[in-house]
Amino acid sequence: MTIEFTPLPLPDSAEASNFLSFGRQVTGFDPTNFTAEEFATIEDALYKHDLLLFRNVDLSPEKQYMLNRAFESDDPACDDFGHGNNEIDKNKNSILHPDLKTIPRVPQIQLLGNGTIYNHEGITHATLKHPSHTTFHKTRVSPVDEAKGTTRFFRWHIDAALYDRRTPKVTTLYAINVPKGPKQTCRYDDGTGDELPVPLGTTAFVSGKTMFDILPSELKSLAVRSKAKYAPLPYVWMAPAHAVSTGLGLESEDLEIPYDQLPPWEEAKRMVLPVLWKNPVTGELHLQVHPCGVVELLVDPIPEGGGKEGVLYPDGVHLTDLKAIRELLYEMQRPGIAPKLVYPHDWNERDVVLFHNRGVLHSVVGAFNKDQIRTLHQCNLVASDNPSGPTTEDVKKWS
Ligand SMILES: [Fe+2]
Repeated sequence: MTIEFTPLPLPDSAEASNFLSFGRQVTGFDPTNFTAEEFATIEDALYKHDLLLFRNVDLSPEKQYMLNRAFESDDPACDDFGHGNNEIDKNKNSILHPDLKTIPRVPQIQLLGNGTIYNHEGITHATLKHPSHTTFHKTRVSPVDEAKGTTRFFRWHIDAALYDRRTPKVTTLYAINVPKGPKQTCRYDDGTGDELPVPLGTTAFVSGKTMFDILPSELKSLAVRSKAKYAPLPYVWMAPAHAVSTGLGLESEDLEIPYDQLPPWEEAKRMVLPVLWKNPVTGELHLQVHPCGVVELLVDPIPEGGGKEGVLYPDGVHLTDLKAIRELLYEMQRPGIAPKLVYPHDWNERDVVLFHNRGVLHSVVGAFNKDQIRTLHQCNLVASDNPSGPTTEDVKKWS
């Protein structure tokens, strides 16, 4: 069987010129049974296209884990789910706790979705709740508008613990039950008037490469010289905080838990990651920041011989003002989630979406009623390395 790649069907809202390399549907590859040679083709394509879709797959939790595991080295650390096996189930203070349930037999696989389910892969009974912006954003769509199908992006993110465990390279999402319903309208509510028609319960993706490519030169210069430092235990730290209306970061209301009131943590386990992550196959730079978790920005000076005119922080800086950091990151990231740059995946049952977690940002979108049963399996694994940042040449080129 020949492995073939065809462009993803794009919605009318997407500007096709921005999706020339993004996303492919794959045929001729069995995600449950593949050779090393076939996998090499898929791995190469994943990094070139950032998102691969396989349709009509019967994927057991064991096989899903094996597909993810193929992207990693023999390092035993990579045997674990990206947030640690069973860790989210145990940690009731984490904002992720209500959204993910571990499959007992294969703890690297998380069940997510909506509604009450019975006897699912060893889970006798669980009530799943599709994450809703109404409990996370500072403001909310009015119930009247929500009833008419208006919704928001829940939270733009990278799948990553951002503390102690290295950011997973890839994530797989496998759709098992997908309720059908009318389209919804995702509203940005940030004064721009931006909105996006979305399939019910879509997962929205944007390219971190495009997010970087469209920036003005002064923000490219800042991005290529910057590293983001994340809060300790970020998902516990941010639990009391509210998100902005686009789901792209948090409001600055001083609601986060003070560091000395968090469960025990270690400075050495905190993450400091480049703002730009280098694609291991294409060499392109992807702007990859989890905007909710960042608390410090470390900016290097312009390299020797570089012009400083019109450059932000030419001599480098260590920013610690949370509000200012969030505003700066928002300025860098908001253009990249414009409606024309979003790929909202229209789920079918038995779809497998494999995405480059170090190359895209994604968000849950939409709202379901209690009686709409939706189940998906998610897998990502702790990586054997940290993402690579820009090279010396990249810094010279973009500073
Ligand atoms: Fe995610």
